[in-house]
Amino acid sequence: MVVSLEYKKVEDTIKKILFSKKQDNPLQMVVDILYDGFEKYSWVGIYLVEGNNLHLGPWRGTQATEHVWIPIGTGVCGTAAKTGKTELVDDVSADPRYLACFRTTRSEIVVPIKKGSSVVGEIDIDSDVPAAFDTKDAEFLEKIADMLSQHI
Ligand code: SME
Repeated sequence: MVVSLEYKKVEDTIKKILFSKKQDNPLQMVVDILYDGFEKYSWVGIYLVEGNNLHLGPWRGTQATEHVWIPIGTGVCGTAAKTGKTELVDDVSADPRYLACFRTTRSEIVVPIKKGSSVVGEIDIDSDVPAAFDTKDAEFLEKIADMLSQHI
């Protein structure tokens, strides 16, 4: 597997900060690093599972989303929470599950955060670039989700 330097650098930065210092708000810190680290990540948020719903936690972007609560099983986010599998959407306008948040969004990736086999949250990233995400983003974000699960 070829790991791009940029992903590795961001992964190492997150690892160092998450595991070497006591963080008051580790989830916000990770959101900030992801948002600042990649231009194509236009909106970055973490949803947490609360009962049968996802509840929006820390986020960064130019606008707030109206989708602060999402029922598990609904939308791209709710699907990933239900199946425990990463969702990659190249063209949001072609995905009937998609819950629209921002006029400019073209593609989306949702990566579940798991403790064992239970989904406890997820990383949701929207991009204004069509088909912005590929397996490199998925593998990278799955590692970040793994680290985050120890902080939820
Ligand atoms: N688009 C998501 C909803 C969350 S916003 O992208 C922030 C979905 O379809 O579930």
